[in-house]
Amino acid sequence: MCGIVGYIGKQEASPLLLEGLKRLEYRGYDSAGVAVLTEKELKLKKHKGRVTELAKHVSGNSLSGNLGICHTRWATHGAVTEENAHPHVSFDGKIAMVHNGVIENYLSIKKFLEGEGYSFYSETDSEVFCNLIAYHYAKEDSESETRFPDSVRRTLKHIEGTYGIAVICADHPTELVGARKGSPLIVGIGPDEYLLASDVSAIIRRTSNVVYLNDGEIVSLKNGELNLLTNDEEILTPEIKTIDWDIAESELGDYEHYMLKEIFEQSGALENAMRGRFSDDMSTAKFGGLNTTAQELRQIDRILLCACGTAWHACLVGEYLIERFARIPVEVEYASEFRYRNAPLDKNTLVLVISQSGETIDTLAALRESKRKGYKTLAINNSVGSTIARESDGGIYQHAGPEIGVASTKAFTSQLHILSMLALYLGRLRDMSFQDGLEYVAALKQAPELVTETVKLSDQILEISKKYKDMTDCLFLGRQDMFPIALEGALKLKEISYIHAEGYPAAEMKHGPIALISAECPVIVLATQPDIHEKLVSNIQEVKARGAPVIAIANRSNPLPKEIADDQILIPDCHRAVLPILASIPTQLLSYHIANLRGCDVDKPRNLAKSVTVE
Ligand code: G6P
Repeated sequence: MCGIVGYIGKQEASPLLLEGLKRLEYRGYDSAGVAVLTEKELKLKKHKGRVTELAKHVSGNSLSGNLGICHTRWATHGAVTEENAHPHVSFDGKIAMVHNGVIENYLSIKKFLEGEGYSFYSETDSEVFCNLIAYHYAKEDSESETRFPDSVRRTLKHIEGTYGIAVICADHPTELVGARKGSPLIVGIGPDEYLLASDVSAIIRRTSNVVYLNDGEIVSLKNGELNLLTNDEEILTPEIKTIDWDIAESELGDYEHYMLKEIFEQSGALENAMRGRFSDDMSTAKFGGLNTTAQELRQIDRILLCACGTAWHACLVGEYLIERFARIPVEVEYASEFRYRNAPLDKNTLVLVISQSGETIDTLAALRESKRKGYKTLAINNSVGSTIARESDGGIYQHAGPEIGVASTKAFTSQLHILSMLALYLGRLRDMSFQDGLEYVAALKQAPELVTETVKLSDQILEISKKYKDMTDCLFLGRQDMFPIALEGALKLKEISYIHAEGYPAAEMKHGPIALISAECPVIVLATQPDIHEKLVSNIQEVKARGAPVIAIANRSNPLPKEIADDQILIPDCHRAVLPILASIPTQLLSYHIANLRGCDVDKPRNLAKSVTVE
């Protein structure tokens, strides 16, 4: 969904900008560009492809200067071409801008500007936005000290849609302007310098002091000063936050890919999710940031879980966990559906959104809609200071560390672990006994060790992957809490290896997908639940009878007969609160190894972005 970085200070801007931009590639990577402004000129380089390609073209001193902006793109309007890449420069050459977001009324603005004599070289909404700033800039009082930020502010009044922008103006070689609505933007404050960026990963090497912009705010960075105001000209005092982030966590280290590194980091991520979160008597969990009393939570009679993508699969597991252990009815909604559905909710409904990035626009919109209707809202989130974290009534941070691979792994299992803890907490506020609570806590505490054991299956899974790497279709089957793990396994495989994969409830298979079963369509079965083992074995027999190869993920204590499982991955036995985590790890490793063997770019799969900040 595009990443943006801006710099103003005493250093050479372009190397710093490109360094920051590389950290934002998870947001999009189809084209990139950088613009640097000096007293004499505005210099621009754009390139179709990755940031490293752009960096090769920004050689020597060709882009020298201390003020600049850059962008890595995930195309929304217009094809992936150099013309459509950012930064965009206005018709008169005055304004250069990078934009993350979507402008909904750009066609009418474009028509208006064309009537005023403007012409356009790209198909993007962003170029139109940039030219509207130029239009207003031309109309502002040329003597005014604040001519440039005023022109941006005036433009924003006519813009419908979402934006995080960084803007420079050829007449103002010492000023950088940023603004946000709907798309994230932060200001990094370093000694003698300021940075603008889509998120902290881009700037953390230079500073850990940041100001998070809120929607409807605009910032001007000039002569060592930070001026923050609202679109309505109200002057604000910036609130500077210090980021607690271990830089080493976002380095690849000895791993070939971030995805593999993050799969192996899951044990630590679970430890971090639990740190300080058990009661003194060890029979329940506790959370510092819920901002709600136990009494209020006892009155909740329904929970709505809402998210997108992998986080939505975490919600589906959460439904099983909370209903099973806390006995509260749960519903799960895609955030993008919920926000437009006007679903009737009872006033005692708790809305819990889950988002790794805390910036997914549909999840944010669902949160805002819930708040507007007066529901209590909570968020499970991995990004401290993100918009969702700031706007929810209360929340639980994951503390899983930065997740760089586009395909989510450790963030997913950490969400599952927090949902398990939440189920325990809510259960203990209701019917769950002290003894059951003690056992549950013990099981949760054992999870990191079991995860460490499970990731050791990687070599075995690599060998299995070699057998199946050339398949073109496959099916993941599971029942109950293994159904969402089947969905997540299929999503993971298709997003990074481009193999068509579907997840299905095992018994539903005979109502349709069974028509696809053949020797060319391997089936991955999650056969891990003792209580429904026999039923699942029957489902596998139905698959086997039609000639499909079966890869089973089962418990060590309860393997499947060899006649029905061509390959078998055995995970440690565990408590039901931990099972979805352990069962998902072999599916992550299978996807990783298959994609890698097929030569796919595991960390940056085609067409995807990690943080989806457009609708
Ligand atoms: C994108 C990512 C997924 C992620 C989803 C929701 O689609 O590729 O990995 O699950 O967004 O992201 P969030 O940050 O809200 O968890």
